[in-house]
Amino acid sequence: MPGSLLITRIGELVTNAPAGEEPGAGPFAVLSDAALVVEGDRVAWTGLSARAPAADAVMDAAGRAVLPGFVDSHAHLVFAGDRSGEFAARMAGRPYAAGGIRSTVLATRAAADSSLRAGLRRLAGEMLRQGTTTFECKSGYGLTVADEARSVALAAEVTPEVTYLGAHVVPAEFGADVSGYVELVCGPMLEACAPYSRWADVFCERGAFGADEARAVLTAGLSHGLMPRIHANQLGPGPGVRLAVELGAASADHCTFLSAADVDALASSATVATLLPGAEFGTRQPYPGARRLLSAGAVVALATDCNPGSSYTSSMPFCVALAVREMRMTTEEAVWAATAGGARALRRTDVGYLAPGARADLILLDAPSHAHLAYRPGVPLVRAVWQSGRRVSAETPSLGQGRPLLAQRDDTGETHGGGRRYDAL
Ligand code: NIG
Ligand code: FE
Repeated sequence: MPGSLLITRIGELVTNAPAGEEPGAGPFAVLSDAALVVEGDRVAWTGLSARAPAADAVMDAAGRAVLPGFVDSHAHLVFAGDRSGEFAARMAGRPYAAGGIRSTVLATRAAADSSLRAGLRRLAGEMLRQGTTTFECKSGYGLTVADEARSVALAAEVTPEVTYLGAHVVPAEFGADVSGYVELVCGPMLEACAPYSRWADVFCERGAFGADEARAVLTAGLSHGLMPRIHANQLGPGPGVRLAVELGAASADHCTFLSAADVDALASSATVATLLPGAEFGTRQPYPGARRLLSAGAVVALATDCNPGSSYTSSMPFCVALAVREMRMTTEEAVWAATAGGARALRRTDVGYLAPGARADLILLDAPSHAHLAYRPGVPLVRAVWQSGRRVSAETPSLGQGRPLLAQRDDTGETHGGGRRYDAL
């Protein structure tokens, strides 16, 4: 096929290849001395380098590792303002509280569309450069009908995985009238946001929304075709995880304070436990019990929770390193959770693995194995990124849904054209 690309001499190819005929990721798996062919926006072939078929262009990975692009299933990217002062105070001993969200809400409401869009695209570009090729993006810092609607509309410009989080906190103007705000969230706000959204989410936590309110919001979302996911058990024990399982949510996110019953409920359901260690890092809370969840048989995903309050990181490699060092996940478990696990949490069967038919979302590390992501924390190891088969680069930003965030590097001729061979990437 014209434009096909063979990446050869891959030291370690992380495939997470599906075991059976079903599309989608299987367990963690690697191939050594491997090669991969990209045709159009799909992976066309994977196997041993020595058996690789011909292609129009060849790239020599020179023993480096290739992984599926990261799938970041939890991020809050539409906001304005700066909360570094709150972070600094927290590091000096002040506790994290859900109320900080309100200061971002004020800044977000006051911001022009253009500045929200610029901030969103900057973060999306940061993610892409660090190897994230699929990401979810929530609203939740507008909290009026108009501000939530513009948040989801902006998010839909950069990702199909848009989440309506009108139920982030009760905004100040509602005072103690939680039910009045929940009515708005389930009524006119949902009507305005549903056309742009795929998911509905609730911050189910003391100081935010209780189980009955969360159930009302997610049930209303379902009636508009929005699938549920929940911020659950982040700051203390609570009903969020069991509600997620009861409603068949794709994911319960945070899972920091879990009872034995919560762990059992997750393990015996299709609800993914999405762990967000950036939030524990940024709030100096105890990390979630990943080993407990994994031993019980729950499916675990890792995501950044990128947001200005609790976790202002866009880096999946950082989260992998935290998961390995602080949560005692193996390097294999952490990389699986950051790729295939994220795909499960978004119910996606086209990403999170590399096998024929998968979307050609892949990253080339400047390292021989996936373990280097945790072994060399803080080091920019992501050397090249392909999204839907197109090599992306930081120099030529262009954004959009179904379009790459950063344009193909066709000016250099580095990745495509005429059977050309590349020694250095
Ligand atoms: O996932 N928990 C709720 N939302 C965010 C925090 C948002 C904020 O502090 O601005 C989170 O940690
Ligand atoms: Fe969050």
